[in-house]
Amino acid sequence: MSSKFCLNGSKLTLFRYPKLEGDKLQAWNAADEYLLTELAPTLVGADRHNILLVNDSFGALACALNDHHCFSWSDSYISQQASLSNLKINGLNLDHFNGIKSTEMPPENISMVLMKLPKSSLFLEYQLATIQPLLSSQTIFNAAGMVKEIHSTTLKLFEKIIGPTTTSLARKKARLIYVKADLAHKRNNRIKSFEKNWAFDFYNKTLHISNLANVFGRNQLDAGAEILINNLPREEVKQIIDLGCGNGVLGLAAACLHPQANVSFVDESFMATASAKKNVLNNFSDTMNRFQFFNDNCLDGFSKNSADLILCNPPFHQQQTITDHIAWQMMQDAHRVLKPGGRLLLVGNRHLNYHVKMKRIFGNQRVVDSNKNFVVLESRRS
Ligand SMILES: C[S@@+](CC[C@H](N)C(=O)[O-])C[C@H]1O[C@@H](n2cnc3c(N)ncnc32)[C@H](O)[C@@H]1O
Repeated sequence: MSSKFCLNGSKLTLFRYPKLEGDKLQAWNAADEYLLTELAPTLVGADRHNILLVNDSFGALACALNDHHCFSWSDSYISQQASLSNLKINGLNLDHFNGIKSTEMPPENISMVLMKLPKSSLFLEYQLATIQPLLSSQTIFNAAGMVKEIHSTTLKLFEKIIGPTTTSLARKKARLIYVKADLAHKRNNRIKSFEKNWAFDFYNKTLHISNLANVFGRNQLDAGAEILINNLPREEVKQIIDLGCGNGVLGLAAACLHPQANVSFVDESFMATASAKKNVLNNFSDTMNRFQFFNDNCLDGFSKNSADLILCNPPFHQQQTITDHIAWQMMQDAHRVLKPGGRLLLVGNRHLNYHVKMKRIFGNQRVVDSNKNFVVLESRRS
């Protein structure tokens, strides 16, 4: 797949993040191309705009619009790292780029909003409701997505929260959404709470779980997480990592069993680590100093030989793309970060055959438990 992004007379080299040898996946799609082509006449010779980029996957928009001031608002640490990395590779101006976490407010003085549709419609609703009070009647608001991602309910959300919404014809299976901010819309969207709370009982304790809009397992304990939790080891451990923590259920359950252990929660989603932190505060407020929270790509920032137990319910997609490369990276990182004798406990759908990969990386694996959908696997670092 090409890394050369040629559009509107400019040539960029764009990679996904992390950059992988022989990666077959492109760092942009037809929706990025459509959005930028359509916008070109508006931007030629225009004064510098303050542009709010929403969900810019790997920085294609930030790089192409580097003459303007871009505020890149997303839930993905990886997207923000990708944008920075691609800006650097192309020798572009880093001062024109501001990464903003999904848990923070975008700035007020924006003249244009360019949005790539997120995977979750609830997260889209959260983003629209957060942006709506920042819009004026002059703000240009264009969204883009692949045809299969745009449903009538998607367009209704734009209509309901922002204002009159129309769509373009499809081009290379992508479509644009043009939105006009209707200032008469009641500005009460933010009143809705996007947090969802539920609880589960584990080891004589009720764990209260709060979830922000874009967090996995938002409505209930995930069935994969549940079977892993029921197989947590009881032997003493000092350093535990909840890798791809989501709302932190795995690390929280491990913290119940191991009251002396330190637990690190790691996720690439800003809303995930924010939820995990809130859940630790709600359930273990008296021992907060044994918990840490990191936004990271797998375990990039962790040292060798630093953990006794790594718990993982890996993702099988990156943004809208189904892939096993993140699970693979998580296993390899776990092998590097575990101390000799330390173990990785991982749950996955049976059909994903993770046991083959774990055996290849660790030289050993055993099935700890399974049911008709999931299998819990363990590998030990020799
Ligand atoms: C299947 S969910 C598991 C969430 C939680 N541990 C549970 O069991 O309910 C996978 C999690 O991995 C996170 N993730 C995806 N890619 C990642 C990466 N490269 N590095 C760290 N976390 C990642 C996702 O944001 C998501 O929260």
